Order: sequence, then structure tokens, then C-alpha cells
Amino acid sequence: MTIREIKKIQPRHYDLLLLADPQRRLVDDYLQRGFCFELVSNKTITGILVLLPTRPETLEIVNIAVSENNQGQGLGEKLIRFALAYASSNQYKTVEIGTGSTSFGQLYLYQKCGFRMTSIDHDFFLRHYEEEIVENKLILKDMVRLSLDL
Ligand code: ACO
Repeated sequence: MTIREIKKIQPRHYDLLLLADPQRRLVDDYLQRGFCFELVSNKTITGILVLLPTRPETLEIVNIAVSENNQGQGLGEKLIRFALAYASSNQYKTVEIGTGSTSFGQLYLYQKCGFRMTSIDHDFFLRHYEEEIVENKLILKDMVRLSLDL
């Protein structure tokens, strides 16, 4: 298993990017400005991670995904640990992440890795996403923002 920087975004990367964020326009926007990494296991791209510098000394995980067949094997946690180590070795002081209020599994994982909730962006998904998103039998409206001080 290796996590390495992506030289050129390929269609396979988009399959993963859109799993985490269905809004292609937003994905393309942060891909231009972020640091992109792929997780490769058994010669297959199974995970993706995009890190975006937002404010001074702050890095945000704007996209993280593991292919559906490989979820639940600890790869998502490895990507988060990689992001924290990358941020630390590049002198960032804070790592942030935002996720849907209905993404219970993801919220569990981020808190397990040490992230704490900081704020709620009310109606974020209603304002920025064209299609209604239903998750865990709830309409997704709000974004929960979490952060971790290194
Ligand atoms: N539902 C339930 N539990 C979950 C979920 C989930 N969706 N995701 C992670 N967990 C739990 C696991 O059960 C595991 O628990 P344990 O440590 O008690 O055994 C723990 O979190 C670690 O899980 P991993 O196996 O490391 O996570 P995984 O490899 O499945 O990757 C990820 C997690 C990236 C969220 C993956 O489920 C995924 O790609 N989901 C679809 C895309 C997505 O939602 N991405 C995040 C959007 S937010 C953003 O991108 C900023």
C-alpha cells in the first residue's frame, strides 16, 4: 500500500473524487489549487485525498474517498493519518475537514482521528448542490466543520 502525489488526474481519480463530492464544478475548482494524493494497493488506485491550504497555517481535507469494494479495511484512516503527517511536516498548525451532518460514519471516523467539531454551516448543501442529497434516510442540508490542532 502506497500513498503518493498524483501527477495527472485520470478518469479513475474522478470516480473516487465524485464519491466524496458529487458536485463536479466544486471538485474541479479545488483540484486546481490543492495537493492531490492517491492510495495504491495491489497496483490499483483505491483511494484519493485532496488537501487545500485555506488560511495561513491551515490545511483542509477537501476530498477523501476509498473505492466502495475496499471500504472498511482501514484505508480511510490511513489517508487521514497521512494528511496529518503531511500537514505537520509542512509546518501547518491546523487541519480542518467538513462533512455532511447526515454522514454519521464519517463523523465517527474523523472524531476517532482526533478532530473536534467547530461549527455548522447551515443549508450549505442546499445552497451549493443542484441535486438533493439523501443520506441515512435524511435530506442533507448542513455541513459540520471539524478541526484538529497539530
Ligand atoms: N459508515 C460507517 N462507519 C464508517 C464509515 C461509514 N461511511 N466510514 C468509516 N467508518 C468507520 C469504520 O467502520 C471504522 O471503524 P473502526 O475503526 O471502529 O473499525 C473506522 O471508521 C475507520 O474506517 P476505515 O476502514 O479506515 O474507512 P474507509 O476505508 O471505509 O474510508 C471513507 C472512509 C473515506 C469515508 C469511505 O467510507 C468513503 O470513501 N466513503 C464515501 C465517500 C465519502 O463519504 N467521503 C468523505 C466525504 S467528506 C470529505 O471528503 C471532506
